[in-house]
Amino acid sequence: MPATTTQSSQIFPGEVFADVADFDHGIRQLLPRYDELLDALTRCLPVNAQRILELGCGTGELSLKILNHCPSAQVVAVDYSPRMLQFAQAKMHPAGYANRWTGMEADFGEWAHNPTITGIGTHFDACVSSLAIHHMTDEMKGKLFQQIRNHLNPGGVFWNADPILPESPLLAATYQSIREEWLNQQGTTLAEIRTRLGSSSTQGYSSQDQLATLTNHLQMLTQSGFEPVAVPWKYYGLAVFGGFVA
Ligand SMILES: C[S@@+](CC[C@H](N)C(=O)[O-])C[C@H]1O[C@@H](n2cnc3c(N)ncnc32)[C@H](O)[C@@H]1O
Repeated sequence: MPATTTQSSQIFPGEVFADVADFDHGIRQLLPRYDELLDALTRCLPVNAQRILELGCGTGELSLKILNHCPSAQVVAVDYSPRMLQFAQAKMHPAGYANRWTGMEADFGEWAHNPTITGIGTHFDACVSSLAIHHMTDEMKGKLFQQIRNHLNPGGVFWNADPILPESPLLAATYQSIREEWLNQQGTTLAEIRTRLGSSSTQGYSSQDQLATLTNHLQMLTQSGFEPVAVPWKYYGLAVFGGFVA
């Protein structure tokens, strides 16, 4: 268990729960098909990838899946939350991945503005992110996608798993009912989950959810130079999307 406190009602955007120790169980209650989402993203990575950049690694759940899928990869895992990074770090040694995973405390919004300041490195075979980029404005998403594109090797891939903006009020209601049904299947309710959430304002370039439609995401990826772009997985308001570097 990490030495610092795990609980705080004031959290960074994206930390979700007031107690970090609640995240791994809580996110599986809150989000329909969380594991399937991360597995779908992971399966779209080339197994021979050597250098992978992960943006917003949280407690390391996606890192673990990637390290298992890509047996010779080194993962650079970025998060601006020291508490989340500490939780991720604690999982890597018992899983046998301590030598292949490097946690880095940095804001990927800062990196989008000035890639030299964070020391994240370059020449990645893949970049991945789950449930993190949607905290930035579309303008910042576009900047970030360009930086990612610039830091990938030829043949590289970028996959992002994120919630998307419903295209109509009917779809918004449908996606919401899917989430509530899921919560009920997990034996809980939105009201109960809300009692465990932290409250966040703005941190760096991230703030509360700033969702974009899937179409907008694909346009931003295309404008950033990804070709082709693709959506390998979608379940109502959640999708895995990204693209390739020629
Ligand atoms: C909802 S969690 C998801 C964690 C993990 N990717 C997963 O799928 O379980 C989002 C994470 O992104 C991080 N995050 C959000 N915005 C960030 C930013 N601008 N720079 C670095 N980390 C960020 C948060 O601290 C949090 O750990």
